[in-house]
Amino acid sequence: MLFKNNYKNFNSSWINKIDSGENPNSQDLLDHLDLIHDRHAGFTEKIATSCCDVHGKNSYELLLDTIDPSSHSDILDLACGSGVLLEYCNKRFPFNLKLSGVDMNDNELKLARIRLLNKDIDFFNAKAQKLNFIKDSSKDVIFCHWALTLMDPIIPVLKTIKRILKNHGIFSAIVDGDSNSAKGYSEINDIIYKYVQKIFPNYGLLELGDPRVRSLKTLNELVKMVFDDCAIKITPHVLTFKETPKVLAKDVSRFFYASLVLSSKHYQILVSELENYFNKSSVNGLSEFNLPVNRLIVEKSSKLYFLNK
Ligand SMILES: C[S@@+](CC[C@H](N)C(=O)[O-])C[C@H]1O[C@@H](n2cnc3c(N)ncnc32)[C@H](O)[C@@H]1O
Repeated sequence: MLFKNNYKNFNSSWINKIDSGENPNSQDLLDHLDLIHDRHAGFTEKIATSCCDVHGKNSYELLLDTIDPSSHSDILDLACGSGVLLEYCNKRFPFNLKLSGVDMNDNELKLARIRLLNKDIDFFNAKAQKLNFIKDSSKDVIFCHWALTLMDPIIPVLKTIKRILKNHGIFSAIVDGDSNSAKGYSEINDIIYKYVQKIFPNYGLLELGDPRVRSLKTLNELVKMVFDDCAIKITPHVLTFKETPKVLAKDVSRFFYASLVLSSKHYQILVSELENYFNKSSVNGLSEFNLPVNRLIVEKSSKLYFLNK
């Protein structure tokens, strides 16, 4: 039978410790994320480019809107992954910006370099906790799209962001929103976690990264601890993707880190469970996935003029 041998093919120290009831440390987390991104580089962009708000903007574009081309020139994408956000920046502001990207995973950076071949963009393989090579007060805008949630310890990252931002510089990030704010999201999350727990029973007892990033209230408190004298604004958004149940099942499952620890055989079963779920709510052959996100914007100064725009 499928689960008879409790078959596992994902072997990171993070998951092994979770499995045996131990507490993984920050190095275990980094190794786990690195292994996932080695195997599935670029997996974030499919869903992230497809899910849009009522104005048709995806979460990359929600961050892009925080650039003010009249005053910003030096932009860093922290944990840039496969380079999608930098490509958006380059397309919207082709002449004005000095762009750079940092990520800790080589396969993600490889995709980013190919995507932005011949563009004058610097890429660095580095951890967000160790950006000593970036000068103080040198960046106008620092982006972090779908990655702050994964970082633990988070305080050194926030302190570093504050250090390298210029005065009046902007830090903007997209992080997980409240699961209950987007229709159907919790149910999908439950289907995926319940399935993964058949193979890794402790999966989900401990989330990847610092859990404070995952709720608006605790994120606000956390950011305030470091950016105590700065303007902070967090707004919830729901982003929707309409597609056939088959496409949704495949793309949505790939977006959850939990499903990426499954063997391909188990992964296929999960995809069919999700397809059944989306089939039940389909209208004229289409169903929808609603993704809750929070957009965080911090301005490094006490003035609120930018955030009030
Ligand atoms: C969900 S992906 C998002 C990628 C990209 N920002 C996007 O949205 O398309 C998370 C990325 O964060 C990177 N990452 C996670 N923790 C990191 C850390 N501590 N330092 C640098 N990169 C990190 C991973 O390698 C991965 O590329």
